[in-house]
Amino acid sequence: MIHPGTTPFAVCELITLPVGEVVTVTPPGMAPISVFHTSDGLYAIDDTCTHQDASLADGWVEGCTVECPLHEACFDLRTGVPSGPPAKIAVRTHDVSIVDGTVLLHFEQKGDTR
Ligand code: FES
Repeated sequence: MIHPGTTPFAVCELITLPVGEVVTVTPPGMAPISVFHTSDGLYAIDDTCTHQDASLADGWVEGCTVECPLHEACFDLRTGVPSGPPAKIAVRTHDVSIVDGTVLLHFEQKGDTR
């Protein structure tokens, strides 16, 4: 669900992100965010694992779960919640939509980034 009052950020054209692929972007003022295209749809989460400094975009995706490449904690792409140790803290999830073939992220914009 896209919440009113959020600012869209263009990630890429959907055609460049087929099922099974992931893209990482860093919107202004944000930490890197990865958008995963799974067979169930698009999911966006903060890219950095909450356990240590690993990129979840480099992890193994199965269904709606991504396994961290460093210590193998698994995160639910829908909720960001890890299924078990060593990660204990959820990664942030972000709203994502497709408008006219463009993948958009939606989040509260903090301050003017122009
Ligand atoms: S860095 Fe991801 S589980 Fe350790």
